[in-house]
Amino acid sequence: MTTSTVKEHFEAEAHEFDSIIVKLIPYYDQMINALIDSIQFDRFDSIRIIDLGCGTGTIAKRLADRFPNSKIVCLDIASKMIEIAKYKLLDHKNTEFIVGDFSKIDFKEQFDVVVSSLALHHIETDNEKKEFYTKIFNVLANSGQFVNADVVLATTDYQQDTNMNRWMDYMNKSVSMDEIQNKWIPSYKVEDRPAKLIDQLKWLEEIGFRTVDVIWKYYNFSVYGGIK
Ligand SMILES: C[S@@+](CC[C@H](N)C(=O)[O-])C[C@H]1O[C@@H](n2cnc3c(N)ncnc32)[C@H](O)[C@@H]1O
Repeated sequence: MTTSTVKEHFEAEAHEFDSIIVKLIPYYDQMINALIDSIQFDRFDSIRIIDLGCGTGTIAKRLADRFPNSKIVCLDIASKMIEIAKYKLLDHKNTEFIVGDFSKIDFKEQFDVVVSSLALHHIETDNEKKEFYTKIFNVLANSGQFVNADVVLATTDYQQDTNMNRWMDYMNKSVSMDEIQNKWIPSYKVEDRPAKLIDQLKWLEEIGFRTVDVIWKYYNFSVYGGIK
């Protein structure tokens, strides 16, 4: 699975993305609310935020509304997703947009908050994910916060099967079982590389994050992170 396949997928899906994502990701709005609520800064702080794999800018827009004095960097590999993000963030003047691969980024400034939603599971291996979380730790200012909303794996096979079944039940509220089984589950298997949530929490602690926590969870989707 290459990054260019992921890029092609999201370039092609950009214009439908916002309507598709709420059908595929259980309680997407609730998940994003949990991510936004978890950020421990005051409303008018002039914080620097980066959104890794910002997509169409849904999370960045929510961040801009909650932190009007923030500087927000929106980074995504798919230029068509960034075009939509630009439109959503027209009113937040202090926003920078970067089309690029987060795994190759050479951070040039520090951030108070690093967020990501449904993107870091594209990093291929557990080792690469842990290395990337270390990179995030290093780019955070002291007391900075990392929050990730993502698809994760369960600890046992039994629970993983249950999670997959409950995920399909959710999708099936608005998507046919034929489309789920022949389009979305194969696409998940080819493009997505989720890691066990329990391992990721351990990595974050090993890297040095304190107050590592799970903020929200619905079967195989979770919001989690820590403070430097
Ligand atoms: C499922 S979408 C999520 C978008 C948005 N964060 C949200 O939750 O609505 C995943 C996004 O991650 C981006 N992405 C995947 N791999 C990436 C990489 N290596 N570097 C930058 N962006 C990446 C994709 O282009 C896509 O826009």
